[in-house]
Amino acid sequence: MKKNITISLVVITLINILCNTLTAQEKKAPIDRKWWKEAVVYQIYPRSFKDSDGDGVGDLKGIISKLDYLKSLGVDIIWLNPIYSSPNADNGYDISDYQNIMKEFGTMQDFDALLKGMHQRGIKLVMDLVVNHSSDEHKWFQESRKSRDNPYRDYYHWWPAEKGKPAFRPGAFEADGSGWRYDKTTDSYYLHYFNFKQPDLNWENPKVRQEIYSMMRWWLDKGIDGFRMDVIPFISKDPNFPVITQAELDKNYHGRWDVYMGSGPHLHEYLQEMNREVLSKYDCMSLAEGAGMLTSTALNFVDADRKELNMGYHFEGTNLGYVPGYFKKAGPYSLVDFKKIYSDWDAVYQTKGWGTIYLGNHDQPRMATRWGNDSPEFHDYSSKLLTTFLLSMRGTPYYYNGDEIGMVNAKFDKIEDYRDIEVFAEYEKVKNAGGDLKQFIEDQKTGGARDNGRTPFQWNSSTNGGFTTGTPWLKVNDNHTTLNAEAQDKDLNSVLNYFRKMVKLRKNNLVLVYGKYTLLDKDNPNVYAYTRELDGKKVLVLLNFSDKNASANTGINISKAKVLINNYAAPSKTGELRPYEAILYQL
Ligand code: NOJ
Repeated sequence: MKKNITISLVVITLINILCNTLTAQEKKAPIDRKWWKEAVVYQIYPRSFKDSDGDGVGDLKGIISKLDYLKSLGVDIIWLNPIYSSPNADNGYDISDYQNIMKEFGTMQDFDALLKGMHQRGIKLVMDLVVNHSSDEHKWFQESRKSRDNPYRDYYHWWPAEKGKPAFRPGAFEADGSGWRYDKTTDSYYLHYFNFKQPDLNWENPKVRQEIYSMMRWWLDKGIDGFRMDVIPFISKDPNFPVITQAELDKNYHGRWDVYMGSGPHLHEYLQEMNREVLSKYDCMSLAEGAGMLTSTALNFVDADRKELNMGYHFEGTNLGYVPGYFKKAGPYSLVDFKKIYSDWDAVYQTKGWGTIYLGNHDQPRMATRWGNDSPEFHDYSSKLLTTFLLSMRGTPYYYNGDEIGMVNAKFDKIEDYRDIEVFAEYEKVKNAGGDLKQFIEDQKTGGARDNGRTPFQWNSSTNGGFTTGTPWLKVNDNHTTLNAEAQDKDLNSVLNYFRKMVKLRKNNLVLVYGKYTLLDKDNPNVYAYTRELDGKKVLVLLNFSDKNASANTGINISKAKVLINNYAAPSKTGELRPYEAILYQL
């Protein structure tokens, strides 16, 4: 009897111990591991990456010839800007056939070879999905504009002229700023949030949605690994196009993006439908270009329970410091504000959803110029610092081609050197208003004209940086003679090799992916300091964003800490951070 009681007690105690352990484990929120969270995404702008046939335009065979380079970077996913058939009013963001390859870029066979080559190297491929609008040369639009009773009429948004002029909607790449264009054939206006050659598709029409979903499935069935979705928050529209008052505009942070474009009545219904009909059927990733996305609305897109998208990227960070009233003129910015933006966005995803981090892409100036310091003295240090920042934050990093060698703004002196539809429209605006055109060109050197980030990749010091044997579609930066991938590949201390090291470090330290982010010394105007913590592992990140010595008051004793990476040879004896110094300590 006594023996039985003892055995029972032992069993109960064991059960209790077990239960307690389980409870402790349960208390710790388990990390929801996903390949797209742990990946480093590398964005390729195909037009400027590598030209294989000497026509001055980058192409798919060019990318294929650089697959081993991509592998050497250690990146996991490539996001390709649009490669579909296009008349190129907006460099491929005006698609005339969603299931064909742009002539300048090659053929579908080239695409298949590219996809295979990437997969063989363990790299995934994400395509750009541009479905808020098509090209006006797409067969749907060609039909749609023929007559008011054409079966494709409702594929786009039309406003019959007898109803008077439609209420204002912005057209981003138009000198007059209007998103409506009059079309004589049917005496109607059509909507285009960008250029008149990019008419907006009518998502309120279920047929349009089905066409898009079936096209998406077709690409996913081919084996691609996901989509980056161009201005996806803009897809749904109120077909009555009500007048929007200045007061409504003033209420919102992003102004026109939120109010005019990003607040369509059925947006989330459509994303849920897309998820049900397409995304949920594949092991793929989805990324919203989060134009108009706010910290208060982001989870509506990426909270997994809502079954919409995986990630989005916001513009609050990259818009910081632009002078109001001017076109992407970069004024000084405060690091305290910078830190607040990235910390606030991290907080959004503390328990739900998943974030992203980026500083450059094809719509942005070069990060080394805009967020670093591209003077000879500080170029390398600051480029490495920015890389350290991007790869030590929580959220999936999106890294833009060329930033790994620290490419800088084109800084063109004349408007004739530019190629981008957007900068031309903005130049026209200034001209029509009798503004200072010289100053406009000057402002673009440090600011945001998109061609700054689109100059051809600098492979080596030869003519045109080894990008093409022909005449490049956009001038190659003169500094390719010294700043290029070949030279940096050989130099162990180069910006390129630092990037490779930092990618490895992130991949070998899950704490840098999932670890809790805590901002330290938040009012420090020069140093961005934070910790990352996971499962008892703690990393301290110190980034001196200034061109002077600076220190941070973190309250952390680093005397026993291990240096994981440092963009100087070794941390200084005094503990001060040197200009643009970046250090990661394991505590
Ligand atoms: C956002 C893209 O990133 C940009 O390059 C393009 O011009 C617009 N959307 C319109 O598609």
